[in-house]
Amino acid sequence: MRSLGLVSVAIFSFILITSGEAKINPVLIACGRNSSVTIAGKTWISDSSMQNFTVSSQGIAASTLALSENSSYFDLYRTARIFTVPANYTINVVAGSYFLRLHFSPFTFLNFSANESSFEVTSNNVKLVSRFSPSGELNRRNSYLQNEGKSSNVTYLVKEYVLTVESSELSVAFVPASGSFVFVNAIEVISVMTDLFNQSATEVASGTTKNSLSELNGFNLETMYRLNVGGPEITPSQDADLMRDWKTDSDYMFLANAASPVFNSSNISYSNPNNSFIAPLLVYESARTMSNNEVALKRFNMSWKFLVDTDFDYLIRLHFCEFNYNMSRQRIFRIYINNRTASNNFDVIARAGGDNKAYHEDYLDSLSSQTNTIWVQLGPETAAGALVTDAILNGLEIFKLSRNGNLARPIEKSGATAGDSENKSSKSKILWAATGSGIAAITILSAFSSMFFCVYYRRKADPVKDPSPNWRPLVHYNPISSIMDVKQPRTLANPNGSNSLSRLGKRFSILEIRTATQNFDESLVIGVGGFGKVYKGKIDSGAPVAIKRANSHSEQGLNEFETEIDMLSKLRHRHLVAIIGFCDEHDEMILVYEYMANGTLRNHLFGGDLPALSWKQRIDICIGAARGLHYLHTGLERSIIHRDVKTTNILLDENFEAKVADFGLSKTGPSLEHTHVSTAVKGSFGYLDPEYYRRQQLTEKSDVYSFGVVLFEVVCARPVINPTLPKEQINLAEWAIHCQRQGLLEQIVDPRLKGKFRPESLKKYAEIAEKCLADEGKKRPTMGEVLCSLENVLLLERLAEVDVDPTIPAEAHGKVDEAENED
Ligand SMILES: *[C@@H]1O[C@H](CO)[C@@H](O)[C@H](O)[C@H]1NC(C)=O
Repeated sequence: MRSLGLVSVAIFSFILITSGEAKINPVLIACGRNSSVTIAGKTWISDSSMQNFTVSSQGIAASTLALSENSSYFDLYRTARIFTVPANYTINVVAGSYFLRLHFSPFTFLNFSANESSFEVTSNNVKLVSRFSPSGELNRRNSYLQNEGKSSNVTYLVKEYVLTVESSELSVAFVPASGSFVFVNAIEVISVMTDLFNQSATEVASGTTKNSLSELNGFNLETMYRLNVGGPEITPSQDADLMRDWKTDSDYMFLANAASPVFNSSNISYSNPNNSFIAPLLVYESARTMSNNEVALKRFNMSWKFLVDTDFDYLIRLHFCEFNYNMSRQRIFRIYINNRTASNNFDVIARAGGDNKAYHEDYLDSLSSQTNTIWVQLGPETAAGALVTDAILNGLEIFKLSRNGNLARPIEKSGATAGDSENKSSKSKILWAATGSGIAAITILSAFSSMFFCVYYRRKADPVKDPSPNWRPLVHYNPISSIMDVKQPRTLANPNGSNSLSRLGKRFSILEIRTATQNFDESLVIGVGGFGKVYKGKIDSGAPVAIKRANSHSEQGLNEFETEIDMLSKLRHRHLVAIIGFCDEHDEMILVYEYMANGTLRNHLFGGDLPALSWKQRIDICIGAARGLHYLHTGLERSIIHRDVKTTNILLDENFEAKVADFGLSKTGPSLEHTHVSTAVKGSFGYLDPEYYRRQQLTEKSDVYSFGVVLFEVVCARPVINPTLPKEQINLAEWAIHCQRQGLLEQIVDPRLKGKFRPESLKKYAEIAEKCLADEGKKRPTMGEVLCSLENVLLLERLAEVDVDPTIPAEAHGKVDEAENED
């Protein structure tokens, strides 16, 4: 509240720009280009043309052949202007509010290495950035995203400001840091209706509604985020006059599983027809709602988390449109901003005046010098008595408000310029980024991950729908070291030494792969993921293998591909699915895995027509999986936390020996001096460690929890989340613990096991499972302890077998099963 007061003082000192404002045509400037360029119907004029603007210094026109493929502006990003002395762009305008967008897509030109660029920008009297290094900023964002477990890679920046201009000139002054230079690709100036921010807003701290924004006699903002929640990116060319870019939101979701996208097909209109410039209707056509609507206790929020700057005030604008319900009091929820209630009893229909109405709500919040994140959370409103416990969000924007004429983030480390505070690896990273695309490889392994389990479904078996359809994004190992300097010769020689390659097994030629898959014959496809296909193939000796081929990719991707291979190559264990080799010829990215003839454990538990596994087989499989996990946790110098232990990630070979899959995509555990890894929550609903969920702290014990759920799933043979059951039974972990505590577990045991197990072994087994599910991680056993106890269970059961039929040797359990299944 206190700081908001300050803001108001600062902003109130400007002059009100009343309606009837004059509107100027957008000024779109392509820097360092010698002629204009048209992109999506808009013409960007060369900065040497000086139409409607002047540039005070000639600077150096820089260009590159590389493409920044992930931007619709890639053509614009092939040129830039470099200034080694202070320089001004002065644009002729009429007094009013303007979007000022500065585009930075760094590349190296002659001896100007963009990552050494560092400068300050001031517009009229507002400081926009100080000691700013486009490359440094890209690195900062990327390492933040990587830390959050997101795989996205940002290769260009658009800094957007909303500035109030009182005179007829908007000046953009660039001042290089001493010994450094300015680097800028493009500048846009677009007039903004003052009404864009002429809206009332709720101050989160006080809960009071302020007309503050309408009272602001002028304002200066920086756009921090602008997201089309649940939908695809809306590009500037889809946002008419204002040319805004609405990014996808998944990189900012705290728990991707908690919210699912929904889409609308009926006609949407603006709740207030005068507000059509607030956001294009496209924003309201997609949304996210809470996943697992049916779970009895929906004790979670949909959450988004944003990296911002400390010590500023923020305007958070949420966009809503209800299109799943058509009456008020059907979906009512609560909105939190930075852990505080921003609105309760939020009923979109009541506020917007109907369904299919585009509506937005503004909030104001201040960040102290301790906080550099903004959390936006939407969750259940339990007391409201709504029809459903659910929430919806369609779009989100976060704007930073200037303080005392300043929008620049305070310089974090005094003394060092952004340029020289970046380390060597970040230098190589930015060179890499500058050459364009490169995103491919980062995402490709996530594609592999998604495809991984598909491979193992037996084609003839009914594919069972996974109850947790949301794939977790991958967590990648050290993002920085995975990116090599593009100047290095492009070979698969790994910087970490070539021995990782030899451990990887064979490097296949593309010819061999083509032969193995009959030239990628469609009939051999056993799995399809977003990024490519998985084939069953025959290599060399004729032993079947699973071959995963990434669709299309850039040459840049090879490096990251290689780093992932390097990780996979370190993991060798009888109970982990092994990689046999790879193929990198002709820019292919292909991984060859051992083929797991019996598919996923889950397929053998329920939902298909496969014969039931015997009790002893189930124990054996659990022991195998426990061994694999125990190895991940303890077998290497740094432990590896799997993070997605579930029955679809436990695969069975032709002898029903269990192997854990998807392990190369896990997270390195805490080093000795730390007890946990802080990370965004990943995993699958129903298996997720509640402590991890609550505290975002990852330890090996999170895997132990998930394994406990697997143990119950194995004995009960039902989905971990089954919304069709009565409320208290929906979540297997909750229900099984309940029954276990009442001593009633036998009642929910797979009926096909009835009378075919020893009660003592089941009792012991259930005790272990229960311990794994202890609420607090430290009360759970280690995987080693779990393994040991499971071996005891097996011993008890073997004794039983001898009791029942001493003529059957323990090893012949396969036969026993067949006999069992015939009756
Ligand atoms: C949702 O988030 C808020 C704020 O962080 C928190 O107080 C609340 O307990 C959360 N609700 C649930 C159901 O987890």
